[in-house]
Amino acid sequence: MSARSSARSVLLTWPDRKEPSAGAGLIVKKLTGDNRGVLYAGDNLSVLDRLIAEGQTDASLIYLDPPFFTQRAHETTPRKGATSEVAFVDQWDGLAHYLEALGARLSRLHELLLPHGSIVLHVDTKTSHYVKVLADSLFGFDAFASEIVWRYRRWPAKTENFQRVHDVLLRYRKDPNVAPRWNQEYEPLAPSTLKTWGTLKQRAVVEDGKRKRSSSTEDESKGVPLGDVWDIGIIAPVSKERTGYPSQKPEALLERLVNVLTHPDDLVLDPYAGSGTTLAVARRLGRRFVGIDESAVAIATIEKRFAAKGVLLTQVPAGR
Ligand SMILES: C[S@@+](CC[C@H](N)C(=O)[O-])C[C@H]1O[C@@H](n2cnc3c(N)ncnc32)[C@H](O)[C@@H]1O
Repeated sequence: MSARSSARSVLLTWPDRKEPSAGAGLIVKKLTGDNRGVLYAGDNLSVLDRLIAEGQTDASLIYLDPPFFTQRAHETTPRKGATSEVAFVDQWDGLAHYLEALGARLSRLHELLLPHGSIVLHVDTKTSHYVKVLADSLFGFDAFASEIVWRYRRWPAKTENFQRVHDVLLRYRKDPNVAPRWNQEYEPLAPSTLKTWGTLKQRAVVEDGKRKRSSSTEDESKGVPLGDVWDIGIIAPVSKERTGYPSQKPEALLERLVNVLTHPDDLVLDPYAGSGTTLAVARRLGRRFVGIDESAVAIATIEKRFAAKGVLLTQVPAGR
């Protein structure tokens, strides 16, 4: 595998690299709920091709949390008394195979985004650097917007290494020349700032073109504009949010993305829906959603999750 660069872009390539091919296969099921969202059961490649063919290219946010190249099968964690089952299999003929499959999906997802839209790829540290070069080559180097580090605390692993306590979220914009959807969020002021300045907003005092010092204003500070390192807890074993689906992400993480990067009624797309975290959050925050997953266990988990909120997902006939 190698990375070739030219003046304009970088291309991740490897022997026998194939260009993304047209998705084959049929959509098994299409479920629809309260007119705010649609859930497709089936391989996302075929579904994405169908969405493109139907001209449903109005996503403001695409969040994807694909399998992490763990080379193993992932099982559910059932409640007491029940048995676990395989939810999805994350096994590949090698990293090139994994990246090829992901690249085929990324190029289609890009077509489904509106010009102001963002695509957020959730990966881990084993593959994030390969995925970043792949995404740069597909979306354009200038479309890269941020690398968000999601830091969490978890039970320590037995390892003679630093504990792995973060995932990586790569955000790309569809069109870097168009103003993105952006609702500014803030984090609390640092204790040292609070001690010196209290909660009043600071103003930079510039002399001879250089920032010399700060001075207080009369206005209350909203805090510090949100940075790209996010401390958000993983879902606790006893949390009500927990579905038992492997690799379920916390709603708080998706809430932040949806709140910052979309407006009410915007469309949020998650092609690796899993337990339906993105869909549940999008719906709760008044956004429209499209979810896709090929695992029957995932689809059943999502249906149950929605039913618990009083929303029934009903199957619609094929072709509609
Ligand atoms: C890491 S999980 C997503 C977890 C999800 N973010 C959540 O919070 O529950 C990845 C999901 O991708 C699905 N998946 C993998 N390959 C797929 C494909 N080609 N088409 C559709 N779904 C796929 C798996 O079935 C699995 O549910």
